[in-house]
Amino acid sequence: DPALVEAGEKVFKKCAACHKVGEGAKNGTGPHLNGVLGRTAGTLEGFRYSKAMAEAGAGGLTWDEAALKAYLENPKAFVKGTKMTFAGLKSEEDRAAIIAYLATLAP
Ligand code: HEM
Repeated sequence: DPALVEAGEKVFKKCAACHKVGEGAKNGTGPHLNGVLGRTAGTLEGFRYSKAMAEAGAGGLTWDEAALKAYLENPKAFVKGTKMTFAGLKSEEDRAAIIAYLATLAP
């Protein structure tokens, strides 16, 4: 749904201070988010994750739609000990939109 993707691109402004996307995106405060859909949590090379995030990935957490929805609604509740200092997206619509947008980003 192109409209949802477009809405998600706007929501992404809330993430962009910490997360880069697109060609040549580098890790910053947070890991780059190219190809995040389907990625195992905490596994991007060259980024220093919290112990909590690394362990969540080792335990099998993969960023599918359901996991992203839960994490983005309340990061610190879903991955206890995450160092992502973001309050979360309280709007269900915003969460659906950002995931549609993230899904367009190739690895
Ligand atoms: C981690 C998404 C906002 C900082 C992550 C991860 C995702 C994500 C999916 C896990 C990545 C992985 O496992 O490789 C988002 C989205 C945001 C957002 C969609 C906006 C809606 C922010 C903001 C900051 C931030 C504003 C900085 C203030 C971080 C950090 C991590 C992280 C530091 C690593 C967490 C850890 O190791 O525990 N983010 N994020 N994020 N994000 Fe965000």
